[in-house]
Parts: sequence; C-alpha cells; structure tokens
Amino acid sequence: MFNYFFTIAIFIALSSYQCYARVAPDFIKICPGQKSECLKSTVQETIPIFSKGIPSLNIEPIDPLKQDKVVVELPGGFKVELLNGTVTGFRNCIVDSVSYNDEEAEMKFHCNLTIKGKYKAKGQILIVSINGDGDAKIKITDVALMLKVKFEDVERDGEVYQEVKSYSLDYKNEGRVTFFLTNLFKGNPEISKAVLSFINENWRQLTEEFGKPVVDELVRLVFEVVKKFFTSIPKKELFVD
Ligand SMILES: *[C@@H]1O[C@H](CO)[C@@H](O)[C@H](O)[C@H]1NC(C)=O
Ligand SMILES: *[C@@H]1O[C@H](CO)[C@@H](O)[C@H](O)[C@H]1NC(C)=O
Repeated sequence: MFNYFFTIAIFIALSSYQCYARVAPDFIKICPGQKSECLKSTVQETIPIFSKGIPSLNIEPIDPLKQDKVVVELPGGFKVELLNGTVTGFRNCIVDSVSYNDEEAEMKFHCNLTIKGKYKAKGQILIVSINGDGDAKIKITDVALMLKVKFEDVERDGEVYQEVKSYSLDYKNEGRVTFFLTNLFKGNPEISKAVLSFINENWRQLTEEFGKPVVDELVRLVFEVVKKFFTSIPKKELFVD
C-alpha cells in the first residue's frame, strides 16, 4: 500500500514538474512526423499569437515591428533612412505551404504589409532626383515570400535546441506597392507631388530595382526575433519524430 501511494506521489510530482519545466508557451503544438498539412495549420495558427510577442521568453512583438532607425543604401548612392518605423500586417500573413525535413524548413506565405514612419531620402532614383524629409507610408499588397531555414542542433545545459543556422528568402510581388510620401522634394509641394506620382506609376520597376535591400532588412529584423524563439525553446518541445 505504501508503495502504491509512493508511486502516485512520485508520478504527481513528476507530472507537475514536467508542466512547470515546459518552456514553450501553450499555443505551441507539435506535429508528429512533421506532416506538411499539420505544419501548415500549426504555423498559420501560431503566426497571430507569435506576432504579439511572448513576454515569458522575452520575445518582442513583430506586429507591429518597431525600429527606431533603419538605413538602406541602394546601388547608385541613393540613401534612405526610416526613423521611428513600424511595420504592421505580419499577423495576417497567409501560409501557403510548409515542409520540414532533415533540419531544413521551407515555407511559403503571402502578406499585406504597411510600413510607416518618418523618412529622409537623398539621391537619384530611376530618372528623378529626390531630396526628401517627411512622412512615409508604404502599402504592400500580396507579397509572396519563400523562405528556407537551416537548423542545427546545439546542446546547452544538457538540453538540445534546434537553432537557426542560416536562412534565405525569395519574394515576388503578386499585388502592388503604393507609396504615400510627403515632402519628397524639400520645400516644394508641387515637385514633391509630381515625384510621388512618378514613383507610384513606376512602382514595379522601382521595387524590382530597389526592393531587395529593403526586404532583406525587414527579414533580418523579423529573424532576430524568430532566432530567439528557437534558441529559447528546447527541441523536444517543438519537434517529435
Ligand atoms: C521618434 O520618436 C521619439 C519618441 O517617441 C521622438 O522623441 C522622436 O522625435 C521621433 N523622431 C522622429 C524623427 O520623429
Ligand atoms: C491583401 O489585400 C488584398 C486587397 O485588399 C486582398 O484581396 C488580399 O486577400 C489580402 N491578402 C492577404 C494575404 O491578406
């Protein structure tokens, strides 16, 4: 009899210990066998929650994603600074597919994103000269993102983590990009307006030539957060064979 209670006591102690020890927030589900359909719906369900940040793991929100200062220098000497920038929309991204095998994940999704902030820009872009300092809002509809992530197992304090080793991103504009920029030509509202129409008429060529450094920077910021997630949660809580 004693033995029986003893076993139960140990069992209760162990199960509460396990509950306590789990690092992953409750919304994280695991997909046995890493089946694509399960991964796709799990990632889809996780995005809006993850976007808000996970205070218990010190993971900051990515929607809105805030950055005091981003500087992008484009080929040809064009330089843009975005100050007090925010990017919104990640929480509503739609997941198109997810696959995972051999420590490599591939994800496709599409998003509508809005970038806002104060901007400073100087230089030649396409055929126009810009010397601007004002408010910026950029609306991006239906950008398709194709993301590849390589993981590696890292052991720390007796626990295995599957950390992000590298990632690469490809993207395609399936919708369009609309710019709302004030004061593109300092002190001259007429020219500013003309330059803005020019930019919006030529948005496709513009984003083809200059989109990559901007997207790369955006993805780098998001990945700082994603990396932290995989560094904080032990592999066994995220993946089962
Ligand atoms: C950015 O935000 C901070 C704090 O809200 C403010 O003090 C600063 O003036 C802002 N910078 C610009 C360029 O608006
Ligand atoms: C983006 O917005 C467009 C137009 O409002 C809409 O048709 C599309 O479904 C949206 N896409 C996403 C990923 O939310």
